[in-house]
Amino acid sequence: EKAGHKHFMAKEIAEQPTVISEALAYYLNADETGITLPDPGLDFSAFDRIVMVACGTAYYACFTAKYWFEQVARIPVEIDVASEFRYREPPVSARTLAIFVSQSGETADTLAALRYMSDKADTIVSVVNVAESSIARESDIALPILAGVEVGVASTKAFSCQLTVLALLALEAAHQRGEIDGDTLSKRLTELRSLPGLLTRALDLDETLNIISNTLSEAKDILFLGRGMMYPLALEGALKLKEISYIHAEGYASGELKHGPIALIDSHTPVIVFAPHDALFDKTVSNMQEVMARGGKVLLVSDRKGLEVASEGVWQTVQMPEVPDLFAPLLYAIPAQLIAYHTAVAKGTDVDQPRNLAKSVTVE
Ligand code: M6R
Repeated sequence: EKAGHKHFMAKEIAEQPTVISEALAYYLNADETGITLPDPGLDFSAFDRIVMVACGTAYYACFTAKYWFEQVARIPVEIDVASEFRYREPPVSARTLAIFVSQSGETADTLAALRYMSDKADTIVSVVNVAESSIARESDIALPILAGVEVGVASTKAFSCQLTVLALLALEAAHQRGEIDGDTLSKRLTELRSLPGLLTRALDLDETLNIISNTLSEAKDILFLGRGMMYPLALEGALKLKEISYIHAEGYASGELKHGPIALIDSHTPVIVFAPHDALFDKTVSNMQEVMARGGKVLLVSDRKGLEVASEGVWQTVQMPEVPDLFAPLLYAIPAQLIAYHTAVAKGTDVDQPRNLAKSVTVE
């Protein structure tokens, strides 16, 4: 049942190219130039803002999607963790679309947040893996992520399928609202369809990341840095690592470093930097150099262009395939997950059933 893998988590990481392809096939039109949403569909011209609510990894998928909806569809997005949202009882303006993201569809806080919004938001969308779940049933439209059963407590393939569906939703919103034309939509969809192939290439880094993770497993604290869409991924990388390896890890927006966290830097604290060679690359690199100037040990995850200009003085580099800027979080999720996985294996923890955690948190 683990298909030759040592753990369900390893199997689920490896399945990502396949499940992402399946999710894309489900949502793309036959000619693959447009998107079809399940009935009753969504009219994005009816919304002025989006509120996205979830917990844990699903929340980081929302955080990533905020960048997509705002950048591509130009709709303001508010995000919150469900446990805060439900008791904060925020005022909800008219023309609000509420999106709830949950692998299990049974997370107590997310369900309570959905119920709070049910008579306030214009439309309730859920993005779920379990199609018959409470969250799916109680929403106006449920979008399946089609990840298949996820056994590992640490969410991996559900995260990338959540991202896939949210990316499609952001593109559909952008197209409907006239922010992108049909040609651009079709171009972006072609890019998205190239993702499974790129993920397969990133999975080839498994052994490289295994070796690096042996050293990481000796650390007491590990920091993750990212800018733009790599910021939510830094948070996700840190969550994954602490969940299964029990090593203390934090994710920060690179630019926040000098506002406090840089005080933590010393030669014993590895700093993992996710930085594709995009418009924000130089900024991230200058933050990374501040870390190195203070004796910090940097693992730089970037692409060929990025590593060509920024490898000097770096402890370790990992060369990723080049990826269209917009979809980099989907690709960089692979090294984030493999680092957590191999570090945990090196520490000898129970990877699939980490201590104190449950797969589905149905009590608050
Ligand atoms: O089933 P859900 O997606 O609603 O679960 C939300 C979180 O409990 C979940 O993502 C949790 O953070 C994972 N263990 C992360 O790997």
